[in-house]
Amino acid sequence: MLRAGGLVALPTETVYGLGADAENPVAVSRIFQVKGRPPNHPLIVHLGGAGLLDDWVEEVPKTARLLAEHFWPGPLTLVLRRGRRVPLEATGGLETVAVRVPDHPVALALLAAFGGGVTAPSANRFGSVSPTTAQHVRAELGDAVDFVLDGGSCEVGVESTIVDVTGDAPSILRPGGVTREELEAVLGHPLAVPATSSVRVPGQHPSHYAPRARVVLVEPEKVVAEAELARELGHRVGVFLPPALADTPVRAHAVARVPGSTAAYARGLYGFLRDLDQQGCDLIVASLPAEEGLGLAIANRLRRAAGPRTTV
Ligand code: TXA
Ligand code: MG
Repeated sequence: MLRAGGLVALPTETVYGLGADAENPVAVSRIFQVKGRPPNHPLIVHLGGAGLLDDWVEEVPKTARLLAEHFWPGPLTLVLRRGRRVPLEATGGLETVAVRVPDHPVALALLAAFGGGVTAPSANRFGSVSPTTAQHVRAELGDAVDFVLDGGSCEVGVESTIVDVTGDAPSILRPGGVTREELEAVLGHPLAVPATSSVRVPGQHPSHYAPRARVVLVEPEKVVAEAELARELGHRVGVFLPPALADTPVRAHAVARVPGSTAAYARGLYGFLRDLDQQGCDLIVASLPAEEGLGLAIANRLRRAAGPRTTV
């Protein structure tokens, strides 16, 4: 299917991707159509192993080699200078390219059998919640996808961490499945984390990863009061109940209990947002976890889910 220029949804350890042959500009353009994604929003090229990196980029700086050795296969994406093999359609016209080796047996088997690179954004419509099961992909994209490979639920549940290694100092463009602390331990120095409002990368719109319901963020101890107030005002309220309030009764339309471990929270995050949407909530009240470890990526996604919506 990939060789024929088709679109194949594939499981990765982070979220499901919508894959196409990275070297087929027509197939790559179809990804943008199906997702409703602006064409200047660059894609990630997925490779079957770190040994293939040199084929796809202009040069591999020492830092990139170090990070690839430590974290691939895994939820880390490196931004490097684009190699000639990568069409500009895949990079949104940029002279850099994002590359990663996913840590999922089905994705790796597909990449090994295919041999080439597979460009794959998350397999959802632009701006909405990323899919973490094959059912999510079918429900959202339907027949627009030629083939959906079902590899079960994604283990990590939030997207890869994107690190730009084109400059003098590496920087995190998007927090994700590899934590800042893990990166700093390998690099041996602190890393800057972008402000959420940063618009450095094309397509980093403030609202992204968003369910249909409006998302409101409040302090953890105010979640219940805020939800009940909104309910009295007539909203169908969904609540992200923080672990510390697990036993607190709350009058709401639907409740998602936030797990105590951030790994479990990350794994469940997009499923919770989808569930509350499906149950008909028009408002979701949530709070941010501590921004350390995977909490940084979770908070980033929640902030953006709550961001101003310019296109609704
Ligand atoms: O975990 C993931 O990364 C998933 C799975 C499927 O691998 N993919 C994913 O792709 O999240 P997508 O397209 O939803 O997000 C890719 C992000 C975008 O925010 C894009 O702006 C950034 O990567 N990106 C891609 N190429 C870039 C480049 N050359 N420079 C800076 N950012 C880039
Ligand atoms: Mg995405």
